[in-house]
Amino acid sequence: MIISLTRCLAFVSLWCAVAASNIPSRTVTERGGEPQFVQAHPNGKFAVNGKELEFVGTNAYWLPTLNTEADIEHAFKNFSARGIRVVRTWFFNDVTTIPQNSNWLQLIEKGGKTTLNTGPNGLQKLDLVVTWAEKTGVYLIPSLTNNWNPLPPNGSPSRRYSGEVEKRWSNVTRPRNYLSNDYGGIDVYVRQFECSGTHDAFYTDQNIIASYKAYVAAIVGRYKNSPAIFGWEIANDARCFSSVGASGSCTTQTITNWFSILAKHIRAIDCNHLITAGTGGFYCLGCPKLFPHSCAPAPSPAPGAPKARAVSKAQIVRERIDELKKTREEKIRSGELPRDGVKVRGRWAATEAQKRGSDSTTGSAFDGSFGVDSEDILNIPEISFGSFQLFPDQDEYGCPDPHLSRFNNSLQLGLSWIQKQGATGKCFGKPMALGAFGLVTQHNAPFFVPFNSTIAPFSSHTHGKQHTTLSAGLLIHPFASFP
Ligand SMILES: *[C@@H]1O[C@H](CO)[C@@H](O)[C@H](O)[C@H]1NC(C)=O
Ligand SMILES: *[C@@H]1O[C@H](CO)[C@@H](O)[C@H](O)[C@H]1NC(C)=O
Ligand SMILES: *[C@@H]1O[C@H](CO)[C@@H](O)[C@H](O)[C@H]1NC(C)=O
Ligand SMILES: *[C@@H]1O[C@H](CO)[C@@H](O)[C@H](O)[C@H]1NC(C)=O
Repeated sequence: MIISLTRCLAFVSLWCAVAASNIPSRTVTERGGEPQFVQAHPNGKFAVNGKELEFVGTNAYWLPTLNTEADIEHAFKNFSARGIRVVRTWFFNDVTTIPQNSNWLQLIEKGGKTTLNTGPNGLQKLDLVVTWAEKTGVYLIPSLTNNWNPLPPNGSPSRRYSGEVEKRWSNVTRPRNYLSNDYGGIDVYVRQFECSGTHDAFYTDQNIIASYKAYVAAIVGRYKNSPAIFGWEIANDARCFSSVGASGSCTTQTITNWFSILAKHIRAIDCNHLITAGTGGFYCLGCPKLFPHSCAPAPSPAPGAPKARAVSKAQIVRERIDELKKTREEKIRSGELPRDGVKVRGRWAATEAQKRGSDSTTGSAFDGSFGVDSEDILNIPEISFGSFQLFPDQDEYGCPDPHLSRFNNSLQLGLSWIQKQGATGKCFGKPMALGAFGLVTQHNAPFFVPFNSTIAPFSSHTHGKQHTTLSAGLLIHPFASFP
């Protein structure tokens, strides 16, 4: 049955009218009583109907590509049986020609004409995903587009955001929909619209913005009353560049401004659901802000609880140096390092790691290298909660401690990355959600073609080592098996 708008009512004609379209609407499967939507609290928690919603989540980008309703039903029953409450998935599937026997959502033709697939292998497949989420009590975080859509080389090398000339991928190709980053997204728009051809045209070209807004309106408008939507994710891991390079003019403010436009657009269509950006969580500590922040007053902290605080660059450097000292002291205690006081200390003080830690850079996750300032984005009023990701073998989350193994460095830096994100969320009075985590292992490396290369394309230093990598947008998922 169709549930009438309640909270939205006052705004229907004014705000929600934007979503009006001639696509047949869908009905909402009730969860019992009035629809209850997820709310974000300044204390960092999510709640439904006044009760805390425990965020136990997974990624299943592939859900809308399953062939039968029985497969979708099984997947959701499996999520639910395992206590998974939140599932992040792809609500985009852009193609440039209509595929014969597979699912697709939007055709983007050369010149920029777009067609939405309203058929059983299009929107109706999304309907099934949302319906089964509603029936099983699972919440969805639908991501609406993707930064990553690698194609085989097309000739000239592209410029990365950093200005370096990027080596193109090997020529290995795989069938469509083989990887999570193979469902279209930003690069398909910039290729098909034949604008400046740089990746960041997506954030500034008025025709592309209008087209993406129309797609978002169709999807968000369709499910704006569903209690199964946890919140909308504007884009997976948006950056200035991808396998298509950036123009010289893309800055963190380009991307923040774009997120603000899209967040306002979604809020005008759907006043029920939360909105998140979907970024990797990268900081740009020294960048000028479009949405300058000051910490929200602490929401009456429990006695003795640590105070919420902003993360400053100086603080990150100080914390890292403290961590390095601590691990070194532990090594000395356990006899792994000689205890020779000043001399060792002097030598340690001169290590590469500390030099890097104490100068202006603490790695690409903090210096705006990707054109993303997640703090500025988090402070956009329409953004309800923060998103970040963790891909330990491709991104630098701080300077590694030379006394630790590669594994333990990843572990420590990953934990401190999560803590920093938590502190940022507290400071802004918004919850934070880890949206994706991925690690290349011996077992799965061969499947990450075309990201499987001897040079990590997005790493600013590769030490000349054999190194496999994968897209930051690639999601590890426990249920699907690779072919
Ligand atoms: C999980 O999925 C499998 C199919 O892969 C299905 O046979 C099984 O019944 C599902 N489990 C639950 C609890 O629904
Ligand atoms: C890719 O293909 C081009 C043209 O077919 C060829 O010249 C080049 O050597 C190939 N590169 C690799 C890494 O195979
Ligand atoms: C990581 O550190 C722990 C102690 O903190 C140690 O037991 C373990 O062997 C280390 N692992 C690696 C791979 O170095
Ligand atoms: C991918 O990486 C694995 C592990 O390093 C390697 O064995 C494999 O040959 C690579 N595949 C391709 C296509 O480069």
